[in-house]
Amino acid sequence: MEKKFILTEKDFILKNTNTPILHNGSFTCKSPSNIALIKYWGKSELQIPKNPSISFTLNNCHTITTLEYSEKKSSSQDFEITVFFEGTLNEEFKPKIELFFKRIVTYVPFISNFNFIIKTENSFPHSSGIASSASGFSALAMCLMSMEKEFNSQITEEYLIKKASFLARLGSGSAARSIQGPIVVWGKHPEIENSSNLYGTLFPFKLHPIFENYHDVILLVYKGEKKISSTVGHNLMHEHPYAKQRFIQANDNLSKLIEILKNGHLNSFISLVESEALTLHAMMLTSDPYFILMKPNTLKIIEKIWDYRKNNDSNICFTLDAGANIHVLFPDEEREKSLGFIEKELLEFCENNHFISDNLGKGAEVIS
Ligand code: DP6
Repeated sequence: MEKKFILTEKDFILKNTNTPILHNGSFTCKSPSNIALIKYWGKSELQIPKNPSISFTLNNCHTITTLEYSEKKSSSQDFEITVFFEGTLNEEFKPKIELFFKRIVTYVPFISNFNFIIKTENSFPHSSGIASSASGFSALAMCLMSMEKEFNSQITEEYLIKKASFLARLGSGSAARSIQGPIVVWGKHPEIENSSNLYGTLFPFKLHPIFENYHDVILLVYKGEKKISSTVGHNLMHEHPYAKQRFIQANDNLSKLIEILKNGHLNSFISLVESEALTLHAMMLTSDPYFILMKPNTLKIIEKIWDYRKNNDSNICFTLDAGANIHVLFPDEEREKSLGFIEKELLEFCENNHFISDNLGKGAEVIS
C-alpha cells in the first residue's frame, strides 16, 4: 500500500515561475473516460464532492488533446485560447475552458503568460450522449502538468498525477477520476487511506481477479442534448429532501464495494451497482424542479437485462450515468454470451443500433 501522502490545496500552488524557459511548443495527451459505480451527485463550491465516488477507468473511450502554447507578446492577463474540436474551430467549448483557466490560474500561474491553441478529439462519436468532460478536462490537465514539469523538473511522478487530478477536478468533478486506472476513488473515505476530496486515488487494495478484466458495453439510447446538465443536477442536491441520507448511503455503499472488489462476490456487486444507478436517477426524479433523463428504451433495456439474468446463468448488470445511455457490465468469462445477448436483444433499443464495447483500462498518458 502507498505510504501516507495527502496533499492540501496550498501544496498545489506553483512557485518560482518568474522566468519562463518555455517560449513555444506543444504537448499531446490522451485521457480516458470513466464510469462511476458509486456515484458523485452533489457538490459544494469549487468542486468538492458531498460524498466519495469510485469508478472504472475505461480503455476505449478517450480524448486526445494537443495544447499548443506560444509566449504572449503583450502583458495582458486575459486568457488567449482558441479551440479546435475534431479539426473545426469551436466556440462552444471556449467559455467552459476559460472558466477552467480562471479556476486553476492560482495553481498554474504560468498560463497567463501564453497564448493557447487547444486541439481536441474523442474516440467516441460526438453527440453520442457520452460525457466527454471527464476525458476532456483530464487530457487538458495532463497537458498543463507536462508544461509545469518544464518549469519545475524536480516534481515527482506521484505529485504530477495528483496535481493533474486536482486540476482536472476543477474542470469537471468526474475528471478527477480519469488520470489513473483501472479503479479510482475520489473523495474522502475512512477506509481508503490517502483519499482526498481534492483529487483521485487509485483503489489501494488487491482486486479480486474477476475484476481485472471487466467489460462495459455502452448502449447509445439517446444522442440528443440533455435537458438538464450535470452541474445543474448537482446543485439541486443542496435543498434536496433526501440529500443527507443519500450522502450517508454513498459512504456506506463504498465500504460495501471495497469488500466486494476484494472478494469478487458478483451477486453483491450487481445489486449494489444497479441500486446506485437507480438511486442517482431517483435523486433526479425527486429534485425540485424534478426531471427525468432516462428514456422509454432505457427502461426496456433494464427489464431485458433483468429477465436475461433471471433465466440464464449470468452476471450481467447495468449502470447509468447522468443521461439515458446504459452501461452494461459483465466479467470477461461471460464476454461471448453477453455480447450475443446484447446484439440479439438490446441493439434494437439503441439509436442506429450503435454500441461501444469497452473494458477497464489505465489512466491518462503523455503522447508527445
Ligand atoms: C452522474 O463530473 O459531469 O456521471 O463536476 O459539474 O462537471 P461537474 O459534473 P460531472 O458529474 C458526473 C455525475 C455522474 C456521476 C459520476 O460520474 O460520479
